[in-house]
Amino acid sequence: MWGSPAAGGGPADRGAALIALLDPLYRDHPHWADEQVRLRGMLDAAAEARAYDLRTLDRDRAGDPRWFGTPDMIGYSFYVDRFARNLSGLQLRLGWLNRLGVRLLHPLPMTLPQAGDSDGGFAVADYRAVDPRLGSVDDVRAIARDLHERGMALAMDCVLNHCARDHAWAQAALAGDADKRGYFRIVAQAEEVAAWEAGLDEVFPDTAPGNFTHEPALGGWVWTTFYPFQWDLDWSNPAVFREMLDVLLFWANVGVDVFRLDSAPYLWKRQGTASRNLPETHRLVAALRAGLDAVAPGVALLAEAIEQTREVLPYLEPADGSRACQIAYHNGAMAALWTALATGDAAPLVTVLDQTRLARADTAWLTYLRCHDDIIWTALRGIVPEAVLRDCSAFFAGAGSYAQGRSFQARADAPVATVGMLASLLGGEGAATLARYRLMLGVLLALPGMPMLYMGDEIGLPNDEAGAAALDARWLHRPAMDWTRAEAAANDDGPGASFLRITRALIAARAGSPAFAAAAPARAEVTADGVLAIDRGDVLVLANFHDAARPIDRGGGRVDMLTCAPAGETIPAYGILWLARD
Ligand code: GLC
Repeated sequence: MWGSPAAGGGPADRGAALIALLDPLYRDHPHWADEQVRLRGMLDAAAEARAYDLRTLDRDRAGDPRWFGTPDMIGYSFYVDRFARNLSGLQLRLGWLNRLGVRLLHPLPMTLPQAGDSDGGFAVADYRAVDPRLGSVDDVRAIARDLHERGMALAMDCVLNHCARDHAWAQAALAGDADKRGYFRIVAQAEEVAAWEAGLDEVFPDTAPGNFTHEPALGGWVWTTFYPFQWDLDWSNPAVFREMLDVLLFWANVGVDVFRLDSAPYLWKRQGTASRNLPETHRLVAALRAGLDAVAPGVALLAEAIEQTREVLPYLEPADGSRACQIAYHNGAMAALWTALATGDAAPLVTVLDQTRLARADTAWLTYLRCHDDIIWTALRGIVPEAVLRDCSAFFAGAGSYAQGRSFQARADAPVATVGMLASLLGGEGAATLARYRLMLGVLLALPGMPMLYMGDEIGLPNDEAGAAALDARWLHRPAMDWTRAEAAANDDGPGASFLRITRALIAARAGSPAFAAAAPARAEVTADGVLAIDRGDVLVLANFHDAARPIDRGGGRVDMLTCAPAGETIPAYGILWLARD
């Protein structure tokens, strides 16, 4: 009845592609006919409201669909309050980011969180309001405009899977509103909870075991994958889809360029499965994309799917060819970089890169060394033996090593995750730490993708011990920016200076070389001498994860772009070379 997804485009059929994607999911729902009318009206209103400057960006990006994949596109993730107190402060700090070479800002959740512990803002009490301690929606609009004028972009979290218990929908459900009860998954019987739990994993086994929370006012249990105050939304209800798409359209029209789809794997639930990465979830993501295409086609979607690589690919390049997310966290490559450092063996990284070549013209990986979350080792299951992953986990928690990270959440059936600031994971300070920093960042920036840094790592900030006292140990690696250290480092002084010099030099070298575009060729191998070689066409990157020098084959490269010195016959321990080919 509604035609094929390809039918979208003109105002008359603005909703057609979206509705064709959703129809198989919702055709048996009693409100589906009404919801279609509402969806169409919503798309028309949002398209009408889209500002001229944002339409211009959409048009420019239509001709450059991988606009986020240029070599100078470096992301920076941070909590606004910890970086700059609030959004006005952020505006004043844009100079720091510019000087670093950052072009994409990812402030972690800025929306109104629930009072008290809010899981770092991921328990959202109002999706359309900014936390007043940070500023207002108008402040976000002003920052987006400022960034666009500088050729920069803004990413924003969209917490799709759950809202806060404080959110008006949850409060209405608690008060007995039948319509809003339908926004959540409420289970009346303990046996039913047990039946669901049998198939499910636990995200926070130490601090929030189980996936359901008893709520007497609801007459049962509500599904809470994460913390008990984060209520999972029921995406089998088309009203939930409509509400969340409306949130995306609202922020797209404020000027957001990239939406980070938080906890994307968990949207659709089906008994007898792990209720993660189900085909219905992929379809929902493709439908969100179709909704944005009808209004704000230049806005990209970033999948936060911290899963094994084969489970992440469908978010970027679904087998049926539909357009879904444009960017996804490359947690496989991230974990493989750390295993290479712990074991000296970069072969798993080569395997991961081989398995994650992208075919579309509008997709790229988000590459990173760490983020606000923990390093999860299970991404490499099936590629690296479980015992090695456990050893890596112990290594970075400091077992007989230089690393100063910590274990996070005791998972009996999986290698324990790791937390810690980048410098601390690499040994803290000193020449060996700096060499490892240069190596890890040098390889990261050579991978095909869009790199994202985490605030403070550029000046080697150490673990935040006070933060670690929190119930959730991820605060160990979410410190406040140390501006005294940063400003000294900018004057080439103090403990942050060498980190900053290395960071700026690597970013600047990358930005100036088309070989590092996300789309440019990338072939990796480990040489017979155990050196990682990443061939980026005009640049050959060689990296030594061993603690002794190794012989190299220069492969036609002569001068190291990073030092401007001619390459020799060997690469030092923890060395990295970016050899330019003539
Ligand atoms: C995502 C966030 C993480 C948060 C979780 C629940 O994984 O990155 O910080 O705890 O979602 O919202």
